[in-house]
Amino acid sequence: MRMDSKVVLMAGGAGGIGSATSRRLGAEGAKVVVGDLNEEAAAEVAADIVAAGGTAVSVGMDVGDEGSVAAAIKAALDAYGGIDGVHVNAADLSPGTVLQDSDALGLDLSVFDRTIRTGLRGHLLCTQLALPHLLGRGNGALVYTSSAAAFIGEPERPSYAMAKAGINALVRHVASKWGKDGIRANAVAPGLVVTPTIEKTMDERFLQYALAGTRSSRLGRPEDIAAMVAFLMSSDGEWVNGQIISVDGGAVLR
Ligand SMILES: NC(=O)c1ccc[n+]([C@@H]2O[C@H](COP(=O)([O-])OP(=O)(O)OC[C@H]3O[C@@H](n4cnc5c(N)ncnc54)[C@H](O)[C@@H]3O)[C@@H](O)[C@H]2O)c1
Repeated sequence: MRMDSKVVLMAGGAGGIGSATSRRLGAEGAKVVVGDLNEEAAAEVAADIVAAGGTAVSVGMDVGDEGSVAAAIKAALDAYGGIDGVHVNAADLSPGTVLQDSDALGLDLSVFDRTIRTGLRGHLLCTQLALPHLLGRGNGALVYTSSAAAFIGEPERPSYAMAKAGINALVRHVASKWGKDGIRANAVAPGLVVTPTIEKTMDERFLQYALAGTRSSRLGRPEDIAAMVAFLMSSDGEWVNGQIISVDGGAVLR
């Protein structure tokens, strides 16, 4: 029960990694506000947390829309009287976006714009709107979901990698500017995590190829990422700030 009734807003808290993290935080005693574009899935995750004896509410939110982020933060304040942490996890991984993220020459700019809107602008918006509340409490944790894609260099997915590299820059900025005021900003950088969507869309050959790129005997599970986020959100992570932490079975060595 490391979370000790801390209030955490999960921005993108209902997908593969997000739902595992929402559940893990709920199991550790957090009051979880499950925010997601997929309102129905967010409600299901919140209901699961409550059914397991935890505390949670859900809210539909679009991280790329300022009014929507403000409403999600208001929902957290209304439900639990404050915010102690935010995990910004949302990314536009819809096939119409991520599968069209071809290369710098062939890229349609609308694909780039959609990727950045959710994957980077959304992370900045959540930061801008949540920070005053964290600062008001004298401490708080921001955790973002980056990716190994920010480091490895790939012949495809340039927009995605740029968004993730931008998140890394945001982490370092927030920690540098507000660390002395009690704010911790960190990111988890997953390697390939076999979520239900990945399981459905990626064939065995791709999964074996991804496994070969690790120094581990298996690919990632959503729970692997949830465990790191819970650590960073809790007081166990109190002296960790401004870090991009790879949780990827050793795919990226830095
Ligand atoms: N699965 C992997 O292998 C992997 C690897 C590295 C990084 N990541 C990162 O982990 C995070 C979660 O990925 P996932 O694999 O669980 O994907 P997912 O598609 O299962 O989850 C993404 C969630 O974000 C939500 N979302 C999308 N746009 C949103 C918006 N505008 N506002 C609010 N919510 C929105 C979706 O509804 C979904 O619930 C992403 O940031 C992704 O880039 C995933």
